[in-house]
Amino acid sequence: MNAPLDAGTTLAGSTLVGPVLRVSDLVKSYGGPTILNGVSFEAYAGVSLAVIGANGSGKSTLLKCLIRLTDPTSGRIEILGHEVISLASRALRRFRSRIGVVWQKHNLVPRLSALSNVLHGVQSRLSGPRSWWQWAATDAVRAEALACLARVGLDDKALQRVDSLSGGQQQRVAIARMLMQRPEIILADEPDASLDPQSGEDVMRLLSDLARQDGLTLIVISHRLEHTLQFSDRIIGLAGGLITMDVATQQADPIKLRRFFDKPTE
Ligand SMILES: Nc1ncnc2c1ncn2[C@@H]1O[C@H](COP(=O)(O)OP(=O)(O)OP(=O)(O)O)[C@@H](O)[C@H]1O
Ligand SMILES: [Mg+2]
Repeated sequence: MNAPLDAGTTLAGSTLVGPVLRVSDLVKSYGGPTILNGVSFEAYAGVSLAVIGANGSGKSTLLKCLIRLTDPTSGRIEILGHEVISLASRALRRFRSRIGVVWQKHNLVPRLSALSNVLHGVQSRLSGPRSWWQWAATDAVRAEALACLARVGLDDKALQRVDSLSGGQQQRVAIARMLMQRPEIILADEPDASLDPQSGEDVMRLLSDLARQDGLTLIVISHRLEHTLQFSDRIIGLAGGLITMDVATQQADPIKLRRFFDKPTE
C-alpha cells in the first residue's frame, strides 16, 4: 500500500493531510473480460481529481465500485475511514450518504418543483422513525433546500416545475439536491455530457467552485479535454485496466492527455 503524502505537502494551494480516499489493486470484471486490473490511486480533501480514459475504459465502473453500486472483484477501497468493500448494508447506506454523486442523467422528478426535488436530497442523511416528508416540512430543512438552490444560482426558480427548466438548470437542481446530503466527497460522472457547451462549462465550474469552497474532494469524469484541464487539480488516466498516468493538471501535457480521449481502435 502506498504511504500517505506528508502532511503539509501542497498541491494547487491545498494543504494535504492524508488521503480521504485510497484505492489499492482494484480489480473488476463483470464476469467476462477484466475491466479494472489493479487500479491504485489516492484522493485528498479540497483537491479536484479528474479521471480520463477512452469510452469503455472503465471510468464509470471505477466510480461505481467506490460506492459499491457494483461489487469489486478484488482489491481494497478505503474512503473516509471505511473499508468500503466490507461494509454491510446499513453501514453501507450510512457511508453512501456521505458521498454526493452527480450523473450525466440526473433522475429528477420532472413534474415536481425544483424545491421539492432538492428536498428529496435530505432523505439519504436522515434515519430514525420520522418519515422524510415530516423532516422536509420543517422550516429549517426548507431553508436549507433554498440555500442549496441559491448556491447553484436557482433560488428564483424554486417553485418552478423541473420539466420547465433548461437542461443546464436541471443539472444544477440535481447538484443542489446532492448538496442537501452535506456530502464530504463528490463523484461526478460526465455531468457536462448532455449539455450545450456553455451550460456544460457552467456546471463543471459550479462543481469545482463548490468543492473548493467547502474543502471537498471532487472526482470528476469528463469527455471534454478543455474541462478536464480547466477544472481539475490532478488528472489520472485509465487505459488497459490500469492507471497509466497520474499528473498535476498544471504539469499535464495536452497532447498526452488527448490520447486518453481517443477511441481504443484509433
Ligand atoms: N453492468 C455491466 N455488465 C457487464 N459489462 C459492463 C457493465 N457495465 C459496464 N460494462 C462494461 O465494462 C466496460 C467499461 O464500461 P464503463 O461504463 O465503466 O466505461 P467508461 O470508461 O465509463 O465508458 P464511457 O466513456 O463510454 O462512459 C465496457 O466494456 C462495458 O461494456
Ligand atoms: Mg462512463
